[in-house]
Amino acid sequence: MLYDVLVVGSGISGLFAALYAKKKGARVVILTKGNPMRSNSAVASGGINAVINLDAYDSYLKHADDTISGADGIFHRQNIIKMCQEAPDIIHELRDMGVGFDTDEDETIAQRPFGGGSSARTCYIADRTGAAIVMSLLQACRKAGIDILSNHKLLNIIKYKNRLSGISVLRRSDSHVIALACKSLVLAGGGYAGIYRGHTTNAQESSGDVIAAAFRAGLRLSNMEFVQFHPTTLVNNGALISEAARGEGAHIIDENGVRFADELQTRDKLSREILQHIKKGHKAFLDFRHLGREMIESKLPSTQKKALSGAGIDILNEPLEIAPAAHYTIGGIWVRSDTSTAIEGIFACGECAVSGVHGANRLGGNSLLEGAYFGKIAGKEAAKSAYRKEYLPVDYAEVEKDMNLVEFVLKGESRFNINAIRKSLGTMLFENAGVFRDVSSLGNAISYTAYLRGKLYGLACVNKEKENNVELSSILEFRNALLIAEALANTAYKREESRGVHFRDDFPRQDNKHFKAASYIRKMGKEFMDIRFESMEEIDIWHTIKKYLLQQKG
Ligand code: FUM
Repeated sequence: MLYDVLVVGSGISGLFAALYAKKKGARVVILTKGNPMRSNSAVASGGINAVINLDAYDSYLKHADDTISGADGIFHRQNIIKMCQEAPDIIHELRDMGVGFDTDEDETIAQRPFGGGSSARTCYIADRTGAAIVMSLLQACRKAGIDILSNHKLLNIIKYKNRLSGISVLRRSDSHVIALACKSLVLAGGGYAGIYRGHTTNAQESSGDVIAAAFRAGLRLSNMEFVQFHPTTLVNNGALISEAARGEGAHIIDENGVRFADELQTRDKLSREILQHIKKGHKAFLDFRHLGREMIESKLPSTQKKALSGAGIDILNEPLEIAPAAHYTIGGIWVRSDTSTAIEGIFACGECAVSGVHGANRLGGNSLLEGAYFGKIAGKEAAKSAYRKEYLPVDYAEVEKDMNLVEFVLKGESRFNINAIRKSLGTMLFENAGVFRDVSSLGNAISYTAYLRGKLYGLACVNKEKENNVELSSILEFRNALLIAEALANTAYKREESRGVHFRDDFPRQDNKHFKAASYIRKMGKEFMDIRFESMEEIDIWHTIKKYLLQQKG
């Protein structure tokens, strides 16, 4: 079957993109490398922001204002305003699809406060909002007749004369590399917080595969240094304890029962405060005991279960020990306001894309919103772009390179243990490019990634089976993770200031003279990364003008 639009990724942005491309009449397929219910969208439990209560002293412009304040000086104002304006319609659209948002006694959609918001504007389904939304969207996609290819992993983007012609994909069931032609491609494959293995709320496969493929294809990445750490995760395994807990009134206390931090400040500040307290020899806990059984069982049932299964703690009676872990990555593929990229026919949305709405720091509850808002745009634009085009030839020499790599990893001699090496990358990143960073720790991170690059020749499968070889996928993911880690460490090294989630111990202040700008990183030749700092909106405006002039000419 030939498809007009390929959507890579099955989180909220990918599912919305597929639905909207299909609505426009395109033949659409979704590719997903794993289980959609493990995507970051499905894990984002606490809620989705929108101003829906028109009687209250709130407006979408206040939502935009809070988002801009959170972004800490670098942001795309127009994108933020439009996203916040559209947010109520998105909530109603989701409700019409069957998403059962919690309601107040008067049947209006209930809202809870989230960090950095000046009003309670986070809509939710208990503490499993993302999972409920993804489930309804998957059903809508199936109903619309959209094909879903699961266990298909994007390897590379294939170009013909520098234009999109298709993608190469690893089929997990038999380890074959296949090529899929397409007219438009929507990249919606999520972020890279999974590279902080052992210190992350993400599934391990969230390692930036799609972003790495875009980079290899020549697309520009942006803001890779901005990694959001979630302040409340289980100390032993990094499992997310949703911000819903604090939104519903749980306290942050230490071992003496002292409340030492404002629970509803933004995640960056709270993470720093908790880690500083831990560094002084204290422990940090979430305390739910004053909330009472009825509230916990109705509003935080998943948190209650997770605490019991993950830490053996009954939150009705005991405080739960927590620590920050990598949760969300703000950096990714640079996109224009219409989600287009510098390669015609390629669009990106959701966590893997940088639309500028989060700037240097994302507010909780804005990621699901961003995914929905830009997913819809990406779907429409991809369908529109496909409509005008013919298929381009797929260059099989490119596909063969991927076949050779898969063959090498499957058949080569294994010298290193992939799990150990992944964990060592995760721990190294957490320690050196984590909540706190400085010139020497980031220098360590750069050297360590170079050292690991030298080990790639010895990373091959112990298990040589071709059927569902998880080790093969892990090794291929690790190769991408390393590239992403290099981009992250190098941009963090160059940004000699503190802004949003990026905190440099050696440059603790914001430097607006040199760094009130997004970072951009591009492949130079085979090895080098060119890093620059430029204003986001100016670049977007310049591209729009260029596009307009080209259209006039041609
Ligand atoms: O804490 C949470 O429930 C996460 C939500 C988000 O990342 O937006």
